[in-house]
Amino acid sequence: MTERTQAGRTPAGEAGKPGKPFLYVVVCAAGIAAEVDKLVGAALERDWEVGVIATPAALNGFFDTTAVETLTGRPIRSAWRTPADPRPFPPPDAVAVAPATFNTINKWAAGIADTLALGTLCEASGLGVPVAVLPCVADALAAHPAYRDSLERLRGMGVRIGEPYTGEPGPDGVRAEFGWERALDLLTGPGAP
Ligand SMILES: Cc1cc2nc3c(=O)[nH]c(=O)nc-3n(C[C@H](O)[C@H](O)[C@H](O)COP(=O)(O)O)c2cc1C
Repeated sequence: MTERTQAGRTPAGEAGKPGKPFLYVVVCAAGIAAEVDKLVGAALERDWEVGVIATPAALNGFFDTTAVETLTGRPIRSAWRTPADPRPFPPPDAVAVAPATFNTINKWAAGIADTLALGTLCEASGLGVPVAVLPCVADALAAHPAYRDSLERLRGMGVRIGEPYTGEPGPDGVRAEFGWERALDLLTGPGAP
């Protein structure tokens, strides 16, 4: 059972500043995750409250968790709470998955919910909140037919999917910008609440 208000905003007091929409940022274990503070900072500037949910693998040195917790003012979540614990975050008004790995995209599309991040993603579409995903998947993995099927399935669920990004350097040895803010644009573009 969700706890969203009719206006789709978090109830007063839950998110600290009543009326601000609450964004879940789901972070997966891709190298580019080291820059996820760019997405969190941009979301805060656009007046979202932000809570970060990391996959267990992403907590294994992929980004500066202390810096991100300082930015959001909230602990990063990765494990399920115990039944007796209160909900650490309010329910989401939107979800951004960035970076999204091959592994998480395929498991999410298959309906696997064996981590908090995947459970949150599997539930999000059913809650009716907008979900945007920025994949970071190398070409060799992206060629796998299961990956193509997963993207197709997620699109069919209404998930907004950013442009392909390999995370690999171009011929000049330079890696392209990830375009973190695209996740926010996808959430607030046409069709968003
Ligand atoms: C340094 C490093 C960088 C990685 N970068 C990527 C990446 O960009 N995309 C990807 O799909 N997997 C990447 N991986 C592999 C994932 O970490 C691995 O598949 C992991 O199981 C993903 O877990 P998660 O989806 O639960 O976060 C990387 C692994 C390492 C060690």
